Amino acid sequence: MNTVSVPTVTLIGAGPGDPELLTLKAIKALRRATVALVDDLVQPGVLRYLRRSARVVPVGKRGGCASTPQAFIHRLMIQEAQRGETVVRIKGGDPFVFGRGAEEADALRDAGITVDVISGLTAGIAGPAAMGVPVTDRRYTRGVALVTGHAGPAADEPDWAALVHSRLTLVIYMGTQRLADIVQALRAAGMNADTPAALISHAHTPQQKEAVCTLASLAHTAAQQRIASPAIIVVGDVVKASPAWQAMLNVDAPVTSAQQA
Ligand SMILES: C[S@@+](CC[C@H](N)C(=O)[O-])C[C@H]1O[C@@H](n2cnc3c(N)ncnc32)[C@H](O)[C@@H]1O
Repeated sequence: MNTVSVPTVTLIGAGPGDPELLTLKAIKALRRATVALVDDLVQPGVLRYLRRSARVVPVGKRGGCASTPQAFIHRLMIQEAQRGETVVRIKGGDPFVFGRGAEEADALRDAGITVDVISGLTAGIAGPAAMGVPVTDRRYTRGVALVTGHAGPAADEPDWAALVHSRLTLVIYMGTQRLADIVQALRAAGMNADTPAALISHAHTPQQKEAVCTLASLAHTAAQQRIASPAIIVVGDVVKASPAWQAMLNVDAPVTSAQQA
């Protein structure tokens, strides 16, 4: 019997950086691939799991830099899959968290291509964890909201007032270039200037940088510590659980006469 294989593309979440955070399923898919379309937040170590003969196509889309049009990426994945290649699309973090994974899956399915999705650790959870910020610590919050800080059409702006009212931990992706605006929006919605906040850039890579501060000092802290994209901003009391917050309190605490003795 003649079996005709259905063209398939695998969307792989590569996690925030460190290749050791890849899932076993992701590694198996990387080993099978003959063509890999790769986002620019994917660390080079991840590509070591590809066969030597695999063709690697960088299709980065970093804000402010030269970017690959989304329609081009769709076309390329479809063409390669239809030619019989084993195609993987490697994305930073998780493909379905601010990763356009769903748009790509729709385009592929519309072209009659089967889509496999392999989840990855998202930067908004694994990033804060790398600095000891547990985003849903029940001692401080009832949950977390993952939001984009990227400026889009007005309708896309998060409802900052509703978010402040929810008292959820706020994890903000793509927000470092708009820090002042975001802080102003949260303050205007009634959030306390002293609310704990954290910044972490290049999480789980050798370039990782992090800082804790308050909502009011977020923009100043990012500038002073040179924390820039890709970075996650966390706003909420869960930051108090981190060693960095505890250390800051200890530095700021007045030295008591008992300690001096
Ligand atoms: C287009 S979104 C992709 C998010 C990705 N799909 C995920 O689940 O993590 C890019 C944004 O993710 C965040 N990001 C990705 N990798 C990061 C990392 N290693 N450290 C800190 N933030 C990161 C930054 O906010 C960056 O601007």
